[in-house]
Amino acid sequence: MQINGFSKLSKNEKITWLLSNYLNNNEESRKILEQYWNNDKALQELHDGFVENPISNFYLPYAIAPNFIIDQEVYAVPMVIEESSVVAAASKAAKFWSDKGGFTTEITGTTKLGHIHLLYNGTTSELIDFFRKYRSDIFQVIAPLEENMKKRKGGVKDINLIDKTSQLKDYYQIEFKFETANAMGANFINSILEEAAEFIQQKARGTLSGELQIVMSILSNYNPECVVKAEVSCNISALTIPEMDAGEYARKFVTAVQIAREETYRAVTHNKGIMNGIDAVVLATGNDFRAIEAGAHAYAARSGQYRSLSQAKIEEDKFIFSLEVPLTLGTIGGLTGLHPLVKFSLNLLQNPSAEKLMRIVASLGLAQNFAAINSLITGGIQKGHMKMHLNNLLQLLQATPDERQKAIAYFADKKVNFNELKRILDK
Ligand code: MEV
Repeated sequence: MQINGFSKLSKNEKITWLLSNYLNNNEESRKILEQYWNNDKALQELHDGFVENPISNFYLPYAIAPNFIIDQEVYAVPMVIEESSVVAAASKAAKFWSDKGGFTTEITGTTKLGHIHLLYNGTTSELIDFFRKYRSDIFQVIAPLEENMKKRKGGVKDINLIDKTSQLKDYYQIEFKFETANAMGANFINSILEEAAEFIQQKARGTLSGELQIVMSILSNYNPECVVKAEVSCNISALTIPEMDAGEYARKFVTAVQIAREETYRAVTHNKGIMNGIDAVVLATGNDFRAIEAGAHAYAARSGQYRSLSQAKIEEDKFIFSLEVPLTLGTIGGLTGLHPLVKFSLNLLQNPSAEKLMRIVASLGLAQNFAAINSLITGGIQKGHMKMHLNNLLQLLQATPDERQKAIAYFADKKVNFNELKRILDK
């Protein structure tokens, strides 16, 4: 069913239209949407303002992983995620490393990139001369847009012309390097690029013998110069795991990570586990998880093969496990000043700078990866997963507290199975 002017309908009219066209006028469907409306009118209006055509709110659990020691500070980290075992796994890993020095981090760069993508059908040397001639003018043209950012020690750090004609006929980039302080900087970057592109297009007319066409101007979500490294390490003997000898455990762990470095099928799942931790904090702090995901996966493939983002090694009697990932995060701008829960998250994290948030997020990614590999090489992943899954199944069956107890005791030493659960609860 198509409609013109859907966005102009009121929220109720939108729902009525959906009910009559897709949901057999089932008023139960309206109730489902309405039960998630917030009673606080102003708060609901705030949320409605975030996107076009909102008709309800979609809850995700907002949870806390405590005991994270990151660069000697202790954090209770907010996580927004629907997957049942993730927060438990992060908390367990945080606790495990808390008496072994915790997580240490290092920022290797905070430079962000953006590009003017253009076609030029004249000679490369002529375009190079043109760019050299106008490069300082470009800096001048964008200067007014940089004023505020410069106060925060950000701004455009470099502009270069890159010849891409070997990849695509007539294709060049003008690459801008940015520092965006505590902002993710998307609006800042895109405004600068568009302003500069307009200037370049103007100057090209009548100056260049060939035709210059600006195709598009946009930030890149691939930022290999905005990278953070998180690491945990300990003496192998401190890896006291009930299931196996510490040395054997360390070797098996390193092998598991090596498999993910060499083998793409495993690398994707391995990195997905890392992103469980990263995305959950990125969401809780109002950052753009799609940008983070896209950038992280591109970084994982930077060698030409998609590989694990983490590395593990044994050096003499030391076990060292680390993660390197590009993270372009903001702690001001965007949703950070608007969404009450995002503000709460940032307060809880002691209002970190963007760099500090990079350190926290990377540590969560590493913790999650540690927890996953730990489960995989010991009892298997299903044990922990199923404990939480059992909870969901019990909810689904509307189990009473007694039934819950009975089921938890029954599955304490068995794999959870829905039919078996229904059988023992007589449901
Ligand atoms: C599940 O969400 C994530 C894992 O599959 C990650 C991994 O296999 O490393 C457990």
